[in-house]
Amino acid sequence: MLLILSSVLLLSSVRAQTLTVSVPLSAPTAAPTLSPSLFSLSIEQDAWTDWAGTDSDNTYLVNVLDNLKERTGEPPWFRIGADSEDRTNFNPAVEFSQTVSSVASVATPYPEAAAVIVGEGFYQVAEHLPPGTNVVWGVNLREQNMTAAVLEAAAIKKAFDSEAMKQAHVTLKFIEIGNEPDLYVNDAGFSPANWTVATFVQSWTDFAANISQAGVVGADSSQPKFFGPSFAGVSHTATSFSPLGVFTQGILDTPQGSLLTTYSQHHYQCGAGEILTDIVVKANIRSNITQLLGDIALVKSHGLDYVLGETNSCFGHGAVNTSNVGGIAIWTLDYLFFAGQSGVSRAFFHQGIGYKYNMVQPVTLTRSPIDGSPLDPPLPPHVQPAYHAALVAAEAIGSSGSTSSVELDFDDDAVSGYAFYEDGALKRAVLINHNMFFAASGVARGVKTISLGNTTVGVKRLFIPSADSTSGLLWAGQSFDGPDGKADGKVVVESSNASAVALHDTEVVLVFF
Ligand SMILES: *[C@@H]1O[C@H](CO)[C@@H](O)[C@H](O)[C@H]1NC(C)=O
Ligand SMILES: *[C@@H]1O[C@H](CO)[C@@H](O)[C@H](O)[C@H]1NC(C)=O
Ligand SMILES: *[C@@H]1O[C@H](CO)[C@@H](O)[C@H](O)[C@H]1NC(C)=O
Ligand SMILES: *[C@@H]1O[C@H](CO)[C@@H](O)[C@H](O)[C@H]1NC(C)=O
Ligand SMILES: *[C@@H]1O[C@H](CO)[C@@H](O)[C@H](O)[C@H]1NC(C)=O
Ligand SMILES: *[C@@H]1O[C@H](CO)[C@@H](O)[C@H](O)[C@H]1NC(C)=O
Ligand SMILES: *[C@@H]1O[C@H](CO)[C@@H](O)[C@H](O)[C@H]1NC(C)=O
Repeated sequence: MLLILSSVLLLSSVRAQTLTVSVPLSAPTAAPTLSPSLFSLSIEQDAWTDWAGTDSDNTYLVNVLDNLKERTGEPPWFRIGADSEDRTNFNPAVEFSQTVSSVASVATPYPEAAAVIVGEGFYQVAEHLPPGTNVVWGVNLREQNMTAAVLEAAAIKKAFDSEAMKQAHVTLKFIEIGNEPDLYVNDAGFSPANWTVATFVQSWTDFAANISQAGVVGADSSQPKFFGPSFAGVSHTATSFSPLGVFTQGILDTPQGSLLTTYSQHHYQCGAGEILTDIVVKANIRSNITQLLGDIALVKSHGLDYVLGETNSCFGHGAVNTSNVGGIAIWTLDYLFFAGQSGVSRAFFHQGIGYKYNMVQPVTLTRSPIDGSPLDPPLPPHVQPAYHAALVAAEAIGSSGSTSSVELDFDDDAVSGYAFYEDGALKRAVLINHNMFFAASGVARGVKTISLGNTTVGVKRLFIPSADSTSGLLWAGQSFDGPDGKADGKVVVESSNASAVALHDTEVVLVFF
């Protein structure tokens, strides 16, 4: 059901501030095609069974994922692994998994497990994900235990070859060997002298050979491939842990190396002390992504796809009052679409149980993700502000499967926007206001008037009550804060003259042409 409102009244009072942007009516040839799953997920695997459920699926999580799938036709991809992937071993006697916990602190209320032992069920529960989900799974490289890595790969193959997984339409696309191996130095017995990009490539190649023998990856187009190297740091030289470094060392030049078809780079914009009003700055988002442009071009010149295989706002599970609040939806959406403009084919936003930057907390929490204090009553599963960016992205890209996009050139440091095309024809535009509005400041919320043409357009708004609010966000009038994760309320679409679309501080607007 649609509720049509009119916003003509706003026009006259704010015309002086009108920001005019030219929107090409047909897709420029350089417009990249965006994947319906441009926004995807990376999961810390120590608590994977909390996400997936063991004996039955996690209905709340499935509902939250289905909301995205309804809009794009495809659920987000799942990359499962990360830090704890390199602390995982396999034991067939374990049903799902057993973990050795680490000590929690105020700064890190939900630390990664110190060790993880998994059994076959750990991989099999991926069948609980929505039909159509594509999966990337990581195996342990850091501990240099070939037997462990091969046992994990064989169990992954068994799970994804099973009839139940096929019925569930959940597909293994890639195996990742090791997480952030550039950081192994001074860890697991490595020193700067014996852990270099050269020794890394040798080690990766050895592991890839045995994992290939296990049959989980293969050259046939229907078979999974390798995804990596998943470095933490951004570097560009021939002797460093970088794209040029691994290519120079010949990572692609062996039969198993030819199966490395996706280059995964990790990237966080900032660390734990970051403040919201810095991270959302349009210029900061651009400089963080544009530093990767040379690497992206190099990777593509070798015929590989380039993804942000693990990303999010601030490393170390997010920054308090930055990663977990309404304003981060502004950052998430602009970062995602700007990455899409820059040649990133998919961005996997990292998630863990109780992490501050999650789009969703998929299980009940008994201590605060903010400071670890006990929660009484406990906090039931819920979406966080970043989820709303995923909803808007899903609707902007839509379900055509071949939507292309260009960035719009706004002469304003606080406004960004993107146009979306299907079969070359203009369909939608996203407008993003980076000015942070804090309800408690007592200052009236600012508004800009955007002119994109002179036709009548439909407008949906992402309403964020305040840049520091943790709930109460509404996408096109609907709330996703309810206990089942489903949309609540009627869809609100305004009718507006494209020559005067109101865009408030800390707001996103989706325009339908
Ligand atoms: C790895 O491959 C080598 C060469 O085929 C083989 O000798 C070795 O047993 C394999 N190791 C494991 C753990 O599969
Ligand atoms: C390597 O993994 C295997 C298989 O789980 C295990 O039996 C073995 O103890 C591990 N080796 C080391 C050195 O941890
Ligand atoms: C790397 O060097 C460190 C420090 O010298 C040493 O303890 C370790 O055994 C070496 N590891 C390998 C794999 O050579
Ligand atoms: C990324 O953005 C942060 C602010 O969020 C800034 O401190 C940092 O310098 C930026 N990094 C690059 C490479 O532009
Ligand atoms: C986060 O925001 C809350 C609510 O405004 C405030 O009470 C708290 O002190 C802030 N915490 C930090 C670490 O800034
Ligand atoms: C409306 O837009 C069309 C196409 O961009 C343009 O040709 C026309 O001059 C515009 N009319 C007005 C009144 O701005
Ligand atoms: C939109 O507003 C412009 C400028 O006021 C006007 O020329 C145009 O006719 C309007 N278009 C529609 C479809 O109302």
